[in-house]
Amino acid sequence: MNDTRPIGVYDSGMGGLTVWRALREALPEESLLYLGDGKNCPYGSRPQAEIRQLADAAVARLVAEGCKMVVVACNTATAAAIDFLRTKYAPMPLVGMEPAIKPACLQTRSGVVGVLATERSLDGDLFRQTAARYASGIEVIAAAGHGFVELVEEDREETPEAEACVRRIVEPMLQRGADQIVLGCTHYPFLLPVIERIAAGSGAHIVDPSPAVARRAGTLLDRFGLRAPVGHHPEYGFLTFADETYRQRLIRKAWGSCEMKQ
Ligand code: DGL
Repeated sequence: MNDTRPIGVYDSGMGGLTVWRALREALPEESLLYLGDGKNCPYGSRPQAEIRQLADAAVARLVAEGCKMVVVACNTATAAAIDFLRTKYAPMPLVGMEPAIKPACLQTRSGVVGVLATERSLDGDLFRQTAARYASGIEVIAAAGHGFVELVEEDREETPEAEACVRRIVEPMLQRGADQIVLGCTHYPFLLPVIERIAAGSGAHIVDPSPAVARRAGTLLDRFGLRAPVGHHPEYGFLTFADETYRQRLIRKAWGSCEMKQ
């Protein structure tokens, strides 16, 4: 329980910063090393085999940098590669993103749940199996958030295009009675203020799985005896496969995200 090595946090780009923020809050003594690929973002419509290779390269880099655990803060990479990564990098613990269908199905009153995710996440086994397991008797409306990742990567969340793009996808879910909207891509919580504006008055609850993922990381730190010592002052590092300009943007977005309401 004296392990000061960082936890690696990986995403295709800036989306995983929403998980990074939750990790910082839940585990304030842990150093975090964030890798936002950036060069190959978006992953959302790439073939699974290619996403697996990209995820492998990213986790290898975080391991080479001395991380004690890696959080795959990307639903798309989790769906495509988590089993492969767990086998390859054992015994290092890896935490993946779970589509938060279970809590949404437990909480729905209308019996209609909306799920927003990338195309590749929605056609993966993880989504299918989770929906089959928890959503019996519940109508699940799944939709790919076409354009959402680009809006976040380009810092265009608070623009009229963002509003129109999100409205086109979220409004039909609300019209069909969804009272839970699951954010199944880590980029999407950056669009939370827009989604909340569109859902205002409908009573729908927006489900962001990142706090649950951060809690899971804490559980695994304990189980593997990997916690940083009490009073440890954490360090926050940022890496990318893109260029220095992108890395600087990641850093700005990370600290800006801490000021966003969760
Ligand atoms: N942030 C990612 C996810 O959670 C992937 C977005 C993308 O690169 O398409 O699915």
